[in-house]
Amino acid sequence: MTVLLSNSTADIEEAARLLRQGSLVSFATETVYGLGGNARDDRAVAGIFEAKGRPRFNPLIVHLPDTEAAEEEVWFSTTARSLAERFWPGPLTLVLPKRETSGVSLLCSAGLDSLAVRVPAPETARQLLRLTGSPVAAPSANRAGRISPTRAEHVMNELSGRIEAVLDDGSCPVGVESTVVSLTGDRPVLLRPGGLAREELESVLGTPLDLPAKEDPLASPGMLKSHYAPDARIRLDALAPKPGEAYLGFGEQTRQVPEGSFNLSPSGDLKEAAANLFAALRELDKPGISGIAVAPIPLDGLGQAINDRLQRAAAPREA
Ligand code: TXA
Ligand code: MG
Repeated sequence: MTVLLSNSTADIEEAARLLRQGSLVSFATETVYGLGGNARDDRAVAGIFEAKGRPRFNPLIVHLPDTEAAEEEVWFSTTARSLAERFWPGPLTLVLPKRETSGVSLLCSAGLDSLAVRVPAPETARQLLRLTGSPVAAPSANRAGRISPTRAEHVMNELSGRIEAVLDDGSCPVGVESTVVSLTGDRPVLLRPGGLAREELESVLGTPLDLPAKEDPLASPGMLKSHYAPDARIRLDALAPKPGEAYLGFGEQTRQVPEGSFNLSPSGDLKEAAANLFAALRELDKPGISGIAVAPIPLDGLGQAINDRLQRAAAPREA
């Protein structure tokens, strides 16, 4: 049985107790709900992969209450420190060289000598992490390859019976996963576009971010091509739906759309669109439609992360 906990102090304490004892607890971050397990506990981390039904041991992001706690696990360069100062707590994950003294399970880093760390924004999440007293590994709290959850009920629908508890902290304000930047090489590399816009990072870095070399399998091992997939087929850059299709719109809509369609942001605000994206896909993904047609979405700001997730949702499925 999976218990639904509230964000009261007593419930946060209960969630921390469960994490300390090695149980799996889902909690809200500003991006999506995470499937949390004690990162120092091999069994708990292995349990995360099992609960998600994830076929491979991709490296996981480790969540910490503040930069000081992160410094105990990884080495911060000057660049890393300036990004952390400017953007933490917030939707940015830094991949940094792991300290030899880090007690984080090797399963979290999938055998790499780097570790992905992040300090999430919500006060509830950071209180949970403080009370737990050890780093918490947390991928998104969905079954492997499915849409990431942005509300507690999404997590309950997918993982009930597989995890101990869900800490309900309302809906996630950012709505797409954190931006992942690797600082392990000579230059910063953008491994995953996400909730922090690339332009914002580049303005602090003072240089453009590199993209991972295509042939580098370690660059971003978790980035499967098909991911975030609803059951319905997705058709991108659609100016209007075909008969039978549901429509996911963006911005001002001049054409007639079928009843039950959803507009990610009628005013064309990319932040609002990101916040609505995963819940809208879940909402539209009902039996009886022939597919989901999606309006073109601009590529600036959070549009990069939105387009990345939509392309994965539209990609041919892995068997
Ligand atoms: O917003 C988020 O980041 C959410 C919430 C719950 O915090 N978490 C999340 O975690 O998306 P996860 O574990 O699903 O994302 C891990 C991403 C993958 O793309 C993985 O390849 C990359 O981070 N990653 C993790 N550790 C890495 C490492 N050591 N080197 C390179 N990439 C790494
Ligand atoms: Mg995920």
